[in-house]
Amino acid sequence: MQTLVFSTTNPSAWNTHGYTIKNPPKSTAVFRRLPNVSAVASPPALRTLPPEKVQIFKSLESWATQNVLPLLKPVEKSWQPTEFLPNPAQNFDDFTKEVHALRHRTSDLPDEFLVVLVGDMITEEALPTYQSMINRLDGVKDETGACTSPWAIWTRAWTAEENRHGDLLKTYLYLSGRVDMTMIDKTIQYLLSSGMNTGTNRNPYFGFVYTSFQERATFVSHGNTARLAKERGDPVLAKICGSIASDEKRHESAYSRIVEKLVEVDPSGAMLAIGEMMRMKITMPAHLMYDGQDPNLFAHFSAVAQRLGVYTAGDYADILEFLIQRWRLEKLEGLTDDARRAQEFVCGLAPRMRRLQEKADERAKKLRTTTGVKFSWIFNKELYL
Ligand SMILES: [Fe+2]
Ligand SMILES: [Fe+2]
Repeated sequence: MQTLVFSTTNPSAWNTHGYTIKNPPKSTAVFRRLPNVSAVASPPALRTLPPEKVQIFKSLESWATQNVLPLLKPVEKSWQPTEFLPNPAQNFDDFTKEVHALRHRTSDLPDEFLVVLVGDMITEEALPTYQSMINRLDGVKDETGACTSPWAIWTRAWTAEENRHGDLLKTYLYLSGRVDMTMIDKTIQYLLSSGMNTGTNRNPYFGFVYTSFQERATFVSHGNTARLAKERGDPVLAKICGSIASDEKRHESAYSRIVEKLVEVDPSGAMLAIGEMMRMKITMPAHLMYDGQDPNLFAHFSAVAQRLGVYTAGDYADILEFLIQRWRLEKLEGLTDDARRAQEFVCGLAPRMRRLQEKADERAKKLRTTTGVKFSWIFNKELYL
């Protein structure tokens, strides 16, 4: 569910779902359509970190240098988008042959698959929003923009690695001719203008729980698009999605290693943060997606991803269970009362989510045959959800 609230066009509030009001006072006014993110309800004490907790991150700097930075890949050992794309530096005939081959491989990809791939690519393209989120976190932000703390080094190099994902998928889709690039570019511009609200605020405990979850979610989803691309006869696209998935896996290892360390040095603080993030639910990074036409674009894209099995509610529960095991949360002892309650909540959450999902699936099945939605990304072709 989304909520409509009123705001003026101050740049930070400028929103893309904008229903413009005529003759507003001084500046254009818009209705903002905000997602129902419960982050706003999170206790104020959890939104920022007290100084002694900020100090934890300072004291972990040499640990981060030894344990987090090695999970980055040097530029010279990284793949680059050009390796997967027609080479424009060769003679024109050979270049066009490679473009033809790409268009041939992608000609039979189903529309549903393209919608999911486009949605994933657009999510990657909103990278500036994610770097900004990490650089809001107390104790780990890149204070100068070229800071030498391991946290800042990680964030910049992580961004640089991630930047290849959207670039490659976007160019590949552009050359395929199967998708409406103008509508895709508009969606990216809208999404970057909207930002995201994940509820992590300035709290790095929240931030790293969120990124652990998200990197695993993208690993799962790119892994599934790789499998589908292979099944549908495009081995190059399968390799592309697989290479992206393997970056996401490495990033997941780094972020979940940081949370593992927080669980070790501050078990109650970490457990409370994990509990709070799960109570708020992990908001998907592109939840404010909009193309200028469909106010429920993200929900519709998610429904197609769910139907294709690229990213499902079951995956959400699987990721949660994976992280509970990864951080050995069930075995944590000596917690404060609050943290123990958070532990009980988190460790019992996945089965409850699965039960709710079964009911939601039943409802979705009944709707499936009757609901068709047009996707601007594929030239307004209609898909059944
Ligand atoms: Fe990515
Ligand atoms: Fe990622």
